[in-house]
Amino acid sequence: MTKIYEATVTAPVNIAVIKYWGKRDSALILPTNSSLSVTLSQDHLSTRTTIRASPEFSTDRLWLNGIEEDISASKRLVNSITTARKLRAALEKKQRDDGVASEDIVLLSEWSIHVCSENNFPTAAGLASSASGYAALVSALGALFQLPQSTSDLSRVARVGSGSACRSMFGGFVAWRAGESNDGSDSFAVQVADRHHWPDLQALILIVSEKKKTISSTAGMQTTVETSDLFAERVRNVVPKRMAAMEKAIAERDFGTFAEITMRDSNQFHAVCLDTYPPISYMNDVSRSIASIVHAFNTARGRAAAAYTYDAGPNAVIYALKDDMRDLAELVTYCFPRGSTILSEDFYADPFNMFGSADRIGQVPTDPDVAQLATATGQFPAGSVRRIIHTEVGDGPCVLPALQSLLNESGMPKRAKE
Ligand code: DP6
Repeated sequence: MTKIYEATVTAPVNIAVIKYWGKRDSALILPTNSSLSVTLSQDHLSTRTTIRASPEFSTDRLWLNGIEEDISASKRLVNSITTARKLRAALEKKQRDDGVASEDIVLLSEWSIHVCSENNFPTAAGLASSASGYAALVSALGALFQLPQSTSDLSRVARVGSGSACRSMFGGFVAWRAGESNDGSDSFAVQVADRHHWPDLQALILIVSEKKKTISSTAGMQTTVETSDLFAERVRNVVPKRMAAMEKAIAERDFGTFAEITMRDSNQFHAVCLDTYPPISYMNDVSRSIASIVHAFNTARGRAAAAYTYDAGPNAVIYALKDDMRDLAELVTYCFPRGSTILSEDFYADPFNMFGSADRIGQVPTDPDVAQLATATGQFPAGSVRRIIHTEVGDGPCVLPALQSLLNESGMPKRAKE
């Protein structure tokens, strides 16, 4: 039987608390500022990717959620695959130089590959799938090619696919150091703390819209760099201080500081978008109402007990500690009732059993202060928030056993759409 050269991995989604917005080099994807994110659990959000290399494949092919995509049409895909292949070729050269017999060196760098990738969440959920997608691609290439590079080194390869993807190469709390060099050698991700560091930190993702964003992050940040006056102030004076303060807050598990910086940084990112000319607005009325409700919740608690953040779209991610999460989940499910076209288990899965039973979801909150806040706020039209994903901090990419492969014996997707 001929040996199969293949690797299957899963990689997580990350949500930034200090936002990356702006490039100093678009080809290498070098950012104007450092950023910091939380990696979310792969139980709820992850990309699984299988890559096989074979001398029998005539060309590189890729299937995304069952549909074949043209690799050569995406410079970013070509760049990340080519970079990983160069690292493999260097490894093969080293083996030759070290005197390894030529029949023992597998020339994987010269073979074509088949890539099959699937998300465990609907792509249409309006969540960034490029970060988990490129992190899975690069981790699978790293495993297949048995690359000796460190995860930070490999994060530079993920970075050339999509900037935020470099942060999905680690679990827990992750900083992307912007770096200064022109070749990108010092622009990579590092883990600030692992997922066990702050076990009580959880997140609620409120899907406000499942539509694709109107202006892509890539295009939006380019216009911001070119036109916004506020942007330079953010890059020069605001982000460096916030990075230091955020890393300290995480090290000390100081949720109040973590929450305030997270909200302020999201607000400033959206302010900079509005200062872009022509202006960009990613948040909508529902997003803004969610932010107000979080502030009202914090006022009722007398401390910053929850923190919202928004990426390049209207969906909210709210971080809170486990002890506050139940009241928060009761508040948001009361204020944003389930739409009639969504099944209750699809609206809010309740993986941590906060509600006990599905019919408690959307009732008046149990805590009297939260109940008062909920009734004073009132209810938004059903379906304003389409879906809620309750999740927690998670691990970085994981290598799976061969049994979990997405490819069949002939190297074609097991599950393909016509
Ligand atoms: C708002 O990583 O998607 O989510 O590097 O052009 O692929 P490209 O952009 P991308 O931008 C993400 C922007 C953000 C903030 C963040 O994740 O830090």
